[in-house]
Formats: sequence, C-alpha cells, structure tokens
Amino acid sequence: MKHAACTMFTIRHAVAADTGALAEIERSASEAFLHLDDYAALATGDVMPEARQRELIAAGAVWVTTDGSGALVAFLSAERIGPRLHIWELSVLRTLQGRGLGRSLIAEAAGWASLQGLSALTLTTFCDVPWNAPFYGRLGFKALAPGELTPELRGILEDEARHGLPSDKRCAMVLACS
Ligand SMILES: CC(C)(COP(=O)(O)OP(=O)(O)OC[C@H]1O[C@@H](n2cnc3c(N)ncnc32)[C@H](O)[C@@H]1OP(=O)(O)O)[C@@H](O)C(=O)NCCC(=O)NCCS
Repeated sequence: MKHAACTMFTIRHAVAADTGALAEIERSASEAFLHLDDYAALATGDVMPEARQRELIAAGAVWVTTDGSGALVAFLSAERIGPRLHIWELSVLRTLQGRGLGRSLIAEAAGWASLQGLSALTLTTFCDVPWNAPFYGRLGFKALAPGELTPELRGILEDEARHGLPSDKRCAMVLACS
C-alpha cells in the first residue's frame, strides 16, 4: 500500500467502505510479529472478518487514520461493552509503526469514550511483546489481576485461549476515562 512520504495524518470515524482496507492494514501490522520466534505464526494468521468489522463500524466506535492522500494507514476497532469501551484491534501499517499513530488512535478513542460518559477503556494483549502490554502501560493502562477481571474480560480471555492463544501470555488491561 502506498502512502505519502511526508504527510499529515488525520483521524476520522470509519465508514462501511473502509472495511476492505482494514483487513489489509491488520495483515501489514501483524508482520511486526515475524521476528518473534514464539509469535511468528501471528504474522500470517487470520484477521478480523469483514462482517465483524462492518458490525463494529455500524455501532460507531471504529476510527481510521488517513495520510495526506486520504489512504488508510491505521485503525482502532472498539465496542461499547456495558459502561466501558473495549478495544478489539489496533493496527498500524508496518512501515508507519513507531511514529505515534497508535498512541493518537488510543487518545481519540479515550476522548470519545469520555464524552460518551463511559468509565474506562479495556483491552486484552500480549504481556511480553514490547509493542503490546508495555506500550499500553506507557499510555496509562493497568494490567488487571485475575481477581479484578470483569466477567466480560474473563470471557474474552477464555475465548482467546479456546482459539489457541497462550493464556499465560495474555493479559487484560484497563485505562480509566478522565
Ligand atoms: C501496537 C501498535 C498499534 C502501536 O502503534 P504505533 O503507531 O506503532 O505506536 P506509537 O508510535 O504510537 O508508539 C507508542 C510507543 O510504543 C513504542 N513502540 C512502537 N512500536 C514499537 C516496537 N515495534 N517495539 C518497541 N516499541 C514500540 C514507541 O517507541 C512508543 O514509545 P514511547 O511511548 O516511549 O514513545 C503498532 O505497533 C502495531 O500495529 N503493531 C502490530 C499489531 C499489534 O500488535 N497491535 C496491538 C494488538 S493488542
């Protein structure tokens, strides 16, 4: 996927027509895992089905980042679960990772959640991958101990384990809305 080399990035709500590009961005983003022996398989694994992305977009909590030419380069897909906004996926094109786009999308989602009167952002991620739990930790997310999990987060972690993710390497995190 091409993008302007020196460009301004803009965040907007996703629309249904963005769906195909999201899968492409997720595949590109996951190439970050290629160099990690334990996780290399994730680099070629499944991405979120388009029907599910469309459903989340229709519910109103998916954001995309576009470059100066309007091309999509990153996205955050989330869903309101009870009083919290749960982040299902955050992906930045491999070639643009490490430039603040992920952090900006989290800030956008957090601002929106706050305006909606939601209490927190939640997510599940890998504890030991530098751009997963440590990245979210630097943004203020706290890892939850097993006894602190909401029923929904416990269910999500159980579902991930059923789909083959190593449960000892996964953690749930929360960021209170300000
Ligand atoms: C995780 C991800 C969304 C972060 O977005 P990003 O735009 O690359 O991150 P940012 O540029 O906003 O960086 C924020 C911080 O993470 C760090 N970071 C980003 N990529 C990193 C990497 N590959 N290794 C180590 N640190 C990294 C940045 O250095 C920065 O640190 P700082 O807060 O000390 O400045 C992106 O790297 C990505 O798409 N990764 C692959 C898919 C993935 O793992 N998604 C998350 C699933 S839970």
